[in-house]
Amino acid sequence: MNAELLLVGISQLATPQGSAPARGNRQSEVRVIEDAALALEGGRVVWAGPRSGWPGSARETRDLGGRAVVPGLVDPHTHAVWAGDRLADFEARARGDGYEAILARGGGIRSTVRATAAASVQELVDLARPRLEALLRSGATTVEVKSGYGLEPEAELRALEAVAALRAHTPLELIPTLLIHVPPAEAQRRARYLEAVCAELVPEVARRGLADAVDVFVEREAFSAAEAERILEAAHRAGLRSKLHADQFHAVGGTELAVRLGSLSVDHLEASGPDQIAALAAGSTVATVLPGVSLHLGLPGAPGRALIDAGAAVAVGSDLNPGSSPLASSALPAALAVRLCGLTPAEALTAATLNAACALGLGDRGRLEAGARADFVVLTARDWRALIYDLSGRSAAEVWISGRCAAR
Ligand code: NIG
Ligand code: FE
Repeated sequence: MNAELLLVGISQLATPQGSAPARGNRQSEVRVIEDAALALEGGRVVWAGPRSGWPGSARETRDLGGRAVVPGLVDPHTHAVWAGDRLADFEARARGDGYEAILARGGGIRSTVRATAAASVQELVDLARPRLEALLRSGATTVEVKSGYGLEPEAELRALEAVAALRAHTPLELIPTLLIHVPPAEAQRRARYLEAVCAELVPEVARRGLADAVDVFVEREAFSAAEAERILEAAHRAGLRSKLHADQFHAVGGTELAVRLGSLSVDHLEASGPDQIAALAAGSTVATVLPGVSLHLGLPGAPGRALIDAGAAVAVGSDLNPGSSPLASSALPAALAVRLCGLTPAEALTAATLNAACALGLGDRGRLEAGARADFVVLTARDWRALIYDLSGRSAAEVWISGRCAAR
């Protein structure tokens, strides 16, 4: 066996295994190899195992000096493209106003829509770059980025054009999603807006290759499950995958819809109850928890423990956005999933790597074994659990993407 690079001096290599989402008690089955070696060729892993067992020859060997290695973090849920800020909302909420009440009176998401509408594509790119840089430095290698602060179809297209332009400015692999976030404020425009989204915007996004999936915010202050069903069916007709924001404040049918339609993931779940947990356990849709939202909005943590115990596959994401989760780290959400959602460190690692990749429909990453992409994080620590224990967001010493060091 030949490799272009053999990495040694790995105190521990910790990785989930297999390309399918790890469900139920499989979510904790992380393989931990002590004194490991990792062999790379052509941007892929060709071998991972105990150093003493490496059977081949490598053109170059590098010693990592006794640090732990884990798969690159996959952040399956961000809204990294926005303009303006939500500092006034933050202060209002600190004085007792609710997130939903602020949205209902035209603030919240709608204030970010106004600020984003006033920005050029170049301004959106410039604003998003440092956010993506922070995700990279935290250990992310693949990051999903949603539109959703456009509302008007041409503004949604501009946000997705900004995501495409950002690819030239970051080594991260960006996975774009069209998010249909909130309906027009004027009730009489709602039906026509939905029609335009389904008949024009979604097909155009698919035709231009601007997104891989379509997401809808299902909530009392946003879209109903019936409206989301129309949009997701249009997505599937156009050849796009689907996902939903559901059960953030109220369980109004989004989770059941996502599972029934075979969506990639349903995200939030802070208000999910036994029926939604049972639906996710029975279906193939990944349950993505976003504990930054629980921290920032003071919501209950999503029921990660109950989901895993019931047999579901749980992923975790930052939900980086100005209103509900100003958290520019892809590592802290995994750490918070232990504290706020009841996951174990091993389950949290799987949630942030393999299961997050599966939540994006990506079967080639999120684990370190032969054939997988060589996306990984060299930690500052000798023990991989430090990544999940740490709350300072400074666990990553080096971040490698497709076999190359992208940040150190
Ligand atoms: O995932 N809840 C809906 N959408 C975003 C928040 C957007 C915002 O508040 O700006 C979320 O939490
Ligand atoms: Fe979100």
